[in-house]
Amino acid sequence: MSVDSCVAFFEEAKRNPELRQTFKAITDTRELIALGKRRGFTFDAQEVVAASSMDGDGQPAASAVAEPKPATESRLCHYEFSMSEIPELRGAVEELANLTIKPSTVNLDLYGEAFREDDLRWTDMSPAAPGFAAYYEEVMRSQQGASTASHEFSRRDFHLVNLDHHVNAPGYEAYFQAKTRMISTLEAFFGEELQFSGSMWYPPFSYRLWHTNETQPGWRMYLIDFDEEIPESDTASFFRYMNPKTKEIVTLQDRPKLMRLFKIEQHKDKLFWHCIVNGAARNRWSFGFAVPESWMSKLPVITR
Ligand SMILES: [Fe+2]
Repeated sequence: MSVDSCVAFFEEAKRNPELRQTFKAITDTRELIALGKRRGFTFDAQEVVAASSMDGDGQPAASAVAEPKPATESRLCHYEFSMSEIPELRGAVEELANLTIKPSTVNLDLYGEAFREDDLRWTDMSPAAPGFAAYYEEVMRSQQGASTASHEFSRRDFHLVNLDHHVNAPGYEAYFQAKTRMISTLEAFFGEELQFSGSMWYPPFSYRLWHTNETQPGWRMYLIDFDEEIPESDTASFFRYMNPKTKEIVTLQDRPKLMRLFKIEQHKDKLFWHCIVNGAARNRWSFGFAVPESWMSKLPVITR
């Protein structure tokens, strides 16, 4: 195990386009370490940090394609598409079947114990409401100092599973290969480079509490899927955001095979507060990507 081995792995990625492509599917250091190991390079997380500081060019980074560009003025804060209605996305729809996994290494008992009704109810509060900031502070404070007793579900703001943490689960490799293929499929569609930004499994009664993602500005695309159809009348699974300008709360009903895009801003007046709830006994998955501004030229966007 060594820093040199990690540096050599980064060098290899510079020379090898196929390996470089797989780097775009990585969202977590654990995945980088696992990929290196499969290719004969052994290093740990600390050595990744050291190697990255020595060579800022070869390692995977969400910022690779997420360079913030000047904001495009738009009155809309989100865009949605039914993937099934776009014939060119058939390959992406089919690949979803290989990504919507439930790793056996997830402890669903611990997950169930960490559920908090009060946190779930907080998703009904507007970020503009009095008392919101205090609750947010409380949630964030609870994360601090939770090191020794912490487990996957210790964080109150993420009551869900980050699939990319489960590199030791049976089937992880096939899943990672599917992620790499998904990148290539979507790059062919958009004609631009993409990068995975996160792969989440929302088990029954899961949520991601209010947040802004302000440290990672730029367009974000999510491919969302479920293990069942959702009737029109069922509003238990949703994505909710506050329009930064009007403070209006917008709740978008989720459904299978949905592509949703929105832009993350850093400016204090433009912060994109949003939260996600899967408040039913079904499973939800969402696969996030950093996408370039030009995505709009490839999809039937109607600007009102
Ligand atoms: Fe988010």
